Amino acid sequence: MEVVITVDEGAAARVVAGIVERLLRTTDQPVLGLATGSSPLASYRMLVEAHLAGELSFAGASAVLLDEYVGLPPGHPQGYRAFIRHHLADRVDLVPDRLHGPDVWTDDLAAACVAYDRLLDELGGVDVQVLGIGSDGHIGFNEPGSSLRSRTRVKTLTSTTRADNARFFGSLDEVPRHVVTQGLGTISDARHLVLVACGSGKAAPVEAAVEGPVTASCPASVLQLHPHVTVVVDEAAAAKLANAAYYRETYAGKPSWQEL
Ligand code: F6R
Repeated sequence: MEVVITVDEGAAARVVAGIVERLLRTTDQPVLGLATGSSPLASYRMLVEAHLAGELSFAGASAVLLDEYVGLPPGHPQGYRAFIRHHLADRVDLVPDRLHGPDVWTDDLAAACVAYDRLLDELGGVDVQVLGIGSDGHIGFNEPGSSLRSRTRVKTLTSTTRADNARFFGSLDEVPRHVVTQGLGTISDARHLVLVACGSGKAAPVEAAVEGPVTASCPASVLQLHPHVTVVVDEAAAAKLANAAYYRETYAGKPSWQEL
């Protein structure tokens, strides 16, 4: 795991966007895993800007959603497919039918979850998976207690997560209780995991994920078991990291031949 500590949220977004840009420029038919929520938004804006400047194309890429609410009508603005279309996919040259997400509008959610994992395999796996982290340590919507090997399935949101996400809805009551999320095992199949977290509210979950024990009680701690992880945090989110000086020294002294 490599931890990159940046001066602010803009610099963190630059690092994340840079990783995605390198993937799109160097890989034939890349598969990009997309988180929603506020954490990756600044990096998505940078990717859109690079595309509009004629510097970046998504034409050969596929994109896959990390998770989706259950119970919102198709096209609901807070649905994650709509969110990603609005903030990224519809603003770049991604082929529309190459944006994939779990089918949460079917009567057979269990089968849809199995089908989604199969689809990820058929695409050849995810090259770069962008992740945020919840205040309770979730990635995707794998809430505390999630099996570290879990596959895509239905999860029930904690009251903490529903309260955190109420800001996107008119009221807490409108926040769905259920989601379909890639499991921790599914996420771990991606070749490169890139977690971005900014602000003091993320300091405790980042500390638990990066330096705490590997435990289902902090689902993001599963990152410690993955061979290629980049955690990008601003100063505020890095505030509780005991080894911050080492992370800074490592990144500052990175040889030019060593990529993130
Ligand atoms: C979103 C997702 C979640 C969020 C997390 C942080 O697709 O999977 O894990 O990344 O809840 O959300 P924000 O970035 O809004 O703080």
